[in-house]
Amino acid sequence: MLKGRHFVSITDLNAGEILALFERARALKAEWKAGGNQPVLAGKTMAMIFEKPSLRTRYTFEAGMTHLGGHGIYLGPSDIRMGVRETVPDVARNLSRWADIIMARTFAHRTIVELAENASVPVINALSDLEHPCQALADLLTVLEHKGTLAGLKFAYIGDGNNVCQSLLLINALLGLHTWVACPAGYEPRSEIVEQARQLAQESGSQVHIVRHPDEAARDADVLYTDVWASMGQEDEAAERNKMFADYQINAARLALAAPDAIVEHCLPAHRGQEITDEVIDGPQSVVLDEAENRLHAQKALVVQLMGL
Ligand code: CP
Ligand code: NVA
Repeated sequence: MLKGRHFVSITDLNAGEILALFERARALKAEWKAGGNQPVLAGKTMAMIFEKPSLRTRYTFEAGMTHLGGHGIYLGPSDIRMGVRETVPDVARNLSRWADIIMARTFAHRTIVELAENASVPVINALSDLEHPCQALADLLTVLEHKGTLAGLKFAYIGDGNNVCQSLLLINALLGLHTWVACPAGYEPRSEIVEQARQLAQESGSQVHIVRHPDEAARDADVLYTDVWASMGQEDEAAERNKMFADYQINAARLALAAPDAIVEHCLPAHRGQEITDEVIDGPQSVVLDEAENRLHAQKALVVQLMGL
C-alpha cells in the first residue's frame, strides 16, 4: 500500500510496487477508453507547483485529476515564488491544510525533498535536476506494452546523463533491464546514482554499463532512448553541448544497429535534427506518443495509490 507516501525518487517504490502500479495504470487506461473513469477523487484537489515550463506534465496531471472527479490547481513560478516570497517549508505547511496531494517541478532536487519533509500529504517529484521519476514510470509501462516483458531487455540511453537518464538507470535496475548509457566524458550520470543502480541491479540480476561510444550501446538494443542535450536551466550551455553531443544522435544508421524490432523512446520535447532525426522520431519504431499518453495513465495510478485508493 502506497497510502500517504512521497514519490521523490523512483526508488521510493520497490519492483513489486512498480509492477502493481503498472497493472493499476492499465486498468485505469482500459476504463477510460471504455467511456470514462469512476470519480474516485471527487472533491479532492492536487496542488501543482511549477518552477519550470511544461506541456505533458501539467496537462496529464491536471487532466488525470479531472478524469477521476478531482481538480488540479496550477501554481506557476510567478504565483508563489517559492523560497523568495515564502519559504519552501511554509509553502508545504500551507498547502497541506488544503490540498490532498502535491506535485512539484523544481530546479533544485533539494526543494522537492524539503517540500516532502514539511508536507503532511504525499509529494510527487514531477521533475527536478536529479530525477524525473514520473517519466520513468510511463517509459517502462510503454516498454511493457510493446515488448510484453521487461527483465532481461537491453535498454540503450544515448546522450546526456541527466535527470531522465538517472531515473531510467534506477527503474531499469529495479525491474531487471540491462542499461547501457553512452555519453561524452564529463556528461555521465552522477556517480552516486550509478552506484545505487549497480547495487539494485545486483538484486535484480541486471547490468549497468556507462560507455563512450553510442554504437556500443545501440548494438542489439531492444530499446533506444534519448533526451535533449541541454535541459531546462542549461540554455546557456546549449552551443557547447551541441558540439560535445554531435556524435550522439539517434538516426537511421544507429537504429539499424539495434534489434530489428527495437523501439525508440524520447521523453519529449524533442530537438529534431539534434539528438534525434525526423526520420526516426516519426518512423515506425518510434513509440514517443505512446509514452506521452502513458504519462496520463501511470500518473493516475500513482495518485490514487498514494491516496490509498
Ligand atoms: N516529458 C515531459 O516531462 O514533458 P514536459 O516538460 O512538457 O512536461
Ligand atoms: N531533461 C529534460 C527533460 C524535459 C522533460 C529537462 O530537464 O529539461
